[in-house]
Amino acid sequence: MSVISIEREGEIAVVTVENPPVNALSQSLRQGLWEAVETLDADPSTKAVVLICAGRTFIAGADVTEFGKPPVPPHLPDLVERIETAAKPWCAAIHGSALGGGLEVALGCRFRVAAPDASLGLPEVTLGIVPGAGGTVRTPRMVGFPAAVDLVTSGKPLRAGAAQAAGLIDAVLAGDLRMAAIAFARDALNAPLPLPASRRPLASPDAAFWTAHEAALTKMAKGAIAPLRALACLRTAADAPFAEAMAFERQTFLDLRASEQAAALRHVFFAERAAPRPAALRNAEPLPLRSVGVIGGGTMGAGIIAALRQAGLPVTLIERDDEAVTRGLANVSGIFAGGVKRGRLTEDHAAALIAGVTGATDYAALSDADLVIEAVFEDISVKRAVFDQLGKVCRPDAVLATNTSYLDPRMLAPGLPAPERFIGLHFFSPANVMKLLEIIPVPETSARTLATGFALARLLGKVPVQSGICEGFIGNRILKRYRAAAEALVRQGVDIAEIDAAMRGYGFAMGPFEAQDLGGLDIAFLQREGARSAGQDVPETLGDVLVRAGRKGQKTGGGWYDYAPGDRKPRVSEAVAHLLAGQITVGPSMTRAEIARTLVGEMAGEGQAILDEGIAGKPADIDLVEIHGYGFPRWRGGPMFAVARD
Ligand code: 3HC
Ligand code: NAI
Repeated sequence: MSVISIEREGEIAVVTVENPPVNALSQSLRQGLWEAVETLDADPSTKAVVLICAGRTFIAGADVTEFGKPPVPPHLPDLVERIETAAKPWCAAIHGSALGGGLEVALGCRFRVAAPDASLGLPEVTLGIVPGAGGTVRTPRMVGFPAAVDLVTSGKPLRAGAAQAAGLIDAVLAGDLRMAAIAFARDALNAPLPLPASRRPLASPDAAFWTAHEAALTKMAKGAIAPLRALACLRTAADAPFAEAMAFERQTFLDLRASEQAAALRHVFFAERAAPRPAALRNAEPLPLRSVGVIGGGTMGAGIIAALRQAGLPVTLIERDDEAVTRGLANVSGIFAGGVKRGRLTEDHAAALIAGVTGATDYAALSDADLVIEAVFEDISVKRAVFDQLGKVCRPDAVLATNTSYLDPRMLAPGLPAPERFIGLHFFSPANVMKLLEIIPVPETSARTLATGFALARLLGKVPVQSGICEGFIGNRILKRYRAAAEALVRQGVDIAEIDAAMRGYGFAMGPFEAQDLGGLDIAFLQREGARSAGQDVPETLGDVLVRAGRKGQKTGGGWYDYAPGDRKPRVSEAVAHLLAGQITVGPSMTRAEIARTLVGEMAGEGQAILDEGIAGKPADIDLVEIHGYGFPRWRGGPMFAVARD
């Protein structure tokens, strides 16, 4: 089947691309478009061409599956130029997403029109590359450098309205896009043609513009190379003639395409796309979700409610008493107020979101809920009492979930009627922000219940990973090993600050000790103490020594570091050196690279044990957990990927 078809509507030819699922620019599509230009150039009855796509989207970019292979002609920059220099003007009619090479093809067209809900962008940096077919050279000629720098270095798309305001497209067309685009093209023939993008004049910014952007990007990129290389392409576009800038961009694209960072980011790209729809659940029908209950409106409950509301679901919050209901609702309102403060939500939207939360103390309010998520204290008897109630009031087909971090989900709902609807849904804090959702079936969990967990993740825009049952599930189990390994280095005489700096240098926002100071050392301490009092043999950690000395982290003015009042900057602590002195021996010195390699190796080692035990299904799942739950640098591909490539 051909990926291109041509129809005639009088003097307008309509070229339709059909290359499912996302009309990616595979070799056959590039060839097909090239031939369409040739055919229509030679057709005297055609005066203009509308380029439109079938299916869910306009051309969503280069075919990422081809990136590991040598480029095959026709190359995309040549195709874009061929469209730009066609004898007839082309008009791109965009619905869905025009991304990467898709937008570059559209920029080769003389006109661009889009449906109101379309989006346009250059996401290449998120794949570790730069645009490779004129994106950095034509875009500034359409929208100017400030907007082009934002588009190219952030990778974030613009909605149609904003794209029109920026000058990236000519019109936003409501109604039937094909008909509207044909009418637009017909109209456009009555006026002189605009200059093609490559011939439009440029306003080059001064040197200070580039220095400022370079400094900001270096800070933000935390080791990712593509955003800075993209900036260098834009700067070349400002300073050099068109052809020279195109050659520079292409060479940068080809260099980066073959880089380790791009390979890692492609690995993450495909892992993220596979995660929400596991093959094993292909035939399982999830329960439709129309309303959700949340038990407990503390840190996690409030975050979960915020996430559910932002996905449009009405929520009932159950708390212990009226006062706690009021506090829980205030916690949720606080999250939305933060959104308003940061300009992410309007006051009206925030009000509508909170209006969709009903607070109650009586479980009867959950009699018709499709899903209930428990987020009460981490205490087995409190949780059991909750599931006892839920078993009595909820519909027998309602899915009942626990957000426990460490308790064994098999122990939380004994005697639950219809136990096949029980599951663990482990959100991460803040639950309305963090993308990871660990999904933990118990032996009784049905495929429908499991599929509902994945459907919820899709609805909330989360990255779901299925986990078996072990202490801490996948993520917290690896975190425990990571922290223990970091402490082991301290015992060998490696400086605490040096370990944190090494992990920041690796690409984490924070090192393991700074992160504990921020979150508080007491939570893990109490957990260890609980295990000790239950008779388990849990050796004393260095963290325990600090907590016993009252050093619980930033909130007590000191943990692994000291903090001046009102200042979050960690300062190396004499007191800590003194407290730990007896436990530290002086070993061989380590470079930061060696420290990072050791600690990432430990994470991957625990990941491998988790795989061997069947707790996780594949290495990519471990990578997703670390990237989306624990701040592992995306451009390293996750610990399993990084160690396998090392
Ligand atoms: N190449 C190859 N396959 C792609 C692809 C691409 N560019 N984009 C998506 N796919 C595949 C996915 O892997 C998935 O495959 P599967 O069904 O086998 O799992 C399928 O298409 C559907 O993808 P999604 O689940 O993501 O579909 P959605 O409808 O949710 O989203 C989308 C559609 C917004 C287009 C989203 O797929 C997306 O953002 N794609 C990436 C776009 C991109 O990064 N483009 C730039 C590529 S680099 C480039 O163009 C370089 C150029 O400058 C030379
Ligand atoms: P929290 O202490 O902030 O909130 C718990 C809430 O539950 C309180 O508002 C309390 O009033 C309410 N509650 C207690 N008993 C109740 C009952 N019987 N009925 C109704 N409401 C009741 O605790 P947090 O941090 O929100 O943790 C909740 C659960 O989420 C725990 O199981 C915890 O392990 C888990 N979790 C916590 C994470 C975190 O980072 N805080 C991360 C992931 C999971």
